[in-house]
Amino acid sequence: MASRVIPVDPFDLVIFGATGDLARRKILPALFRRFVAGQIEGDVRLIGAARSDMDAKAYREMVREAITEFGGDEARRKKDLSAFLALLDYVTINARGTTGWADLAGKMRDDRIRAFYFSVAPSLFGDLAKRLHKHGMADDDSRIVVEKPFGRDLGTARDLNRVLARHFDEGQIYRIDHYLGKETVQNLMAIRFGNVLFEPLWNSQYVDHIQITVAESVGVGGRGDYYDKSGAMRDMVQNHMMQLLCLIAMEPPAKFEPDAVRDEKLKVIRALDPVLPDNVVRGQYESEGKQPGYRTQVGDDESTTESFVALKAHISNWRWAGTPFYLRTGKRLRDRASEIAVVFKDAPHSIFGEEAGRHCNILTIKLQPNEGIELGVTIKEPGPGGMRLIDVPLDMTFAEALGPEEADFPDAYERLIMDVIRGNQTLFMRGDEVEAAWAWTDPIITDWEEHARAPLPYSSGSSGPDDALMLMHRDGRRWREIRP
Ligand code: BG6
Repeated sequence: MASRVIPVDPFDLVIFGATGDLARRKILPALFRRFVAGQIEGDVRLIGAARSDMDAKAYREMVREAITEFGGDEARRKKDLSAFLALLDYVTINARGTTGWADLAGKMRDDRIRAFYFSVAPSLFGDLAKRLHKHGMADDDSRIVVEKPFGRDLGTARDLNRVLARHFDEGQIYRIDHYLGKETVQNLMAIRFGNVLFEPLWNSQYVDHIQITVAESVGVGGRGDYYDKSGAMRDMVQNHMMQLLCLIAMEPPAKFEPDAVRDEKLKVIRALDPVLPDNVVRGQYESEGKQPGYRTQVGDDESTTESFVALKAHISNWRWAGTPFYLRTGKRLRDRASEIAVVFKDAPHSIFGEEAGRHCNILTIKLQPNEGIELGVTIKEPGPGGMRLIDVPLDMTFAEALGPEEADFPDAYERLIMDVIRGNQTLFMRGDEVEAAWAWTDPIITDWEEHARAPLPYSSGSSGPDDALMLMHRDGRRWREIRP
């Protein structure tokens, strides 16, 4: 069964920061794959805009190389690649000056959807918005796409929202969190709201706790400069982990529509209790064999930035009062494995006696790398010898259930960029949501700073600092193993 691809309406897309890493690794390959899939067709213009002085021909060459490197299997389709490159144009532009703006405005067509992708440092957002407005490109059909980090605390996020709001309505601003574009993350909503099975149990009466793990095996690599000013809290928890938490905890929206979904997510964030210092653990990876440690990688022997965070959160509302949410994310951990585990309570009474042991059901939503869901159920251990119980997984790997082709999920950016063109903001963060997430995160970071709480070292390839294990042990619970 081939998936249905509905072509989007004709559009002009301008990518500011068109020669940068994100454009080369993610945005352009994503556009190319949508082109190969037949979703982008006809009269479309993709205009790269950056400071580098080059012409369209040189830009196409640069994009050809980028797609060959990052475009996946489709990049081998030379004819498609040439046809895609023909859609590209380039403008040398100065975000803070006058160069290139009239030229860019001249390339825009009136009867098209216009999208402007700000793949640049947030300090330039305001300049770009202002100049787009000044040169008549910020009309009702325009939309802008902005990347994370959206601020580094509540104050800076507010400033960014204010700056953008001067020239664009909220309905025109698409704040990307690429986790929302992941197929399995969207599946969270399908699993919860498309089945009657789970929702009646989805509350503190039946759920003992929820664990969200986003573990990476890689270190900070070449991104040390950025990462060391950010840390895992700002890089992962405030945005990606928060979004996962929202989707797992929110009330059913009345419709799968942008504001209906975002209103519910916002309520979750606002219902989060402040996190007590005892309920958060920060860590930093050490060297292991030939693998350099965090400090070596960021080139600062005294860095106190965390590459790991584990915390316990509480949501104070009727549904979740009393059910803790344990979040954990880090780099250089044992494996690359991300999952959400909903751990249900034990059966209220065991009819099988002590020796049968205690058992609980666990619903695991595996986000990556092997996307799927697994429901742990308790059964009788086969064979004679009495009633002994064991837990077995009802396992559904999407690749097996759907077939490898259907489970070959598009990259998050493919889905999200097409949503921008379609004008669908459901999977984008609203300004108030981002601010609320910072309002919750800020006190945790401030506490670290004010009390100089240094991150605890952990070995590369481990599950993080021991204190993170203790965070659960002291509640009589255990983290699930980090495994793909
Ligand atoms: C990015 C973070 O937003 O997400 C990175 O800046 C992180 O530090 C990445 O590695 C993880 O994304 P994914 O899709 O690989 O899970």
